[in-house]
Amino acid sequence: MTAHHGAPGGLFVSFEGIDGSGKSTQSRALAARLKSSGQDVVLTREPGGSAGAEEIRQLVLTGDPGRWSAETEILLFTAARRDHLERLISPALAKGQTVITDRFADSTRVYQGATRGDLRSLVDKLHDLMIGREPDLTFIIDMDPAVALARGLGRGSGEDRFEDFGLGFQETLRHGFLALAKANPDRCLLIDGNREAEAVEAEIAAHMQARLRVLV
Ligand code: ADP
Ligand code: TYD
Repeated sequence: MTAHHGAPGGLFVSFEGIDGSGKSTQSRALAARLKSSGQDVVLTREPGGSAGAEEIRQLVLTGDPGRWSAETEILLFTAARRDHLERLISPALAKGQTVITDRFADSTRVYQGATRGDLRSLVDKLHDLMIGREPDLTFIIDMDPAVALARGLGRGSGEDRFEDFGLGFQETLRHGFLALAKANPDRCLLIDGNREAEAVEAEIAAHMQARLRVLV
């Protein structure tokens, strides 16, 4: 794997979107494609991806929807991300591996930064202080929140604290992700998720080739 976008090391790709939009499905599919073409791939997710961050995941995703204030949540998600970055993402990129993560900082920008009052500047300051790194490419999967919500709740994972906020909340999130895609056209690609998984997968693979010159 060669360096891209001027950054040394491996490629860093994230998947974003509302709950149930198909991020896990598509990040798994892309990782499998890259692996089968001989690339060294690390597939991970947030919140989580490292032992400490997985512990924080339990704190933020289970229990009462009102368990944490928005500010505390920002600290917890950022703490989890810092651990994930230190222990897993940065070492893998330094070794030249391709890292694919199911969610990264855009999720905090949207979920914590734009849903309960305007906390975006707090999210951005903390990101600059503690994370300071963006993916080379971000796929934002866009889809109808009603369909996505039905898909997400169908899983019964017990980690439904955010899904429990309901459809109006998912609509707000969708618009947050659309705004992020518009504001960051160099990094973010908007993908229509209202299609069969195979069609979405093929489009993502084509973008990987076109934008990052990765063979998939
Ligand atoms: P996310 O990670 O964004 O929450 P998932 O990939 O877990 O989404 O998908 C949520 C549910 O929808 C899963 O049961 C998955 O199998 C299903 N699913 C994913 N992509 C599609 C698709 N394009 N069409 C129909 N169902 C899908
Ligand atoms: P995830 O397991 O990706 O859920 P889903 O598969 O339903 O999309 O993420 C769990 C929840 O955590 C999800 O509702 C989004 C939320 N979240 C935040 O609120 N802020 C964040 O920074 C991250 C990474 C996730």
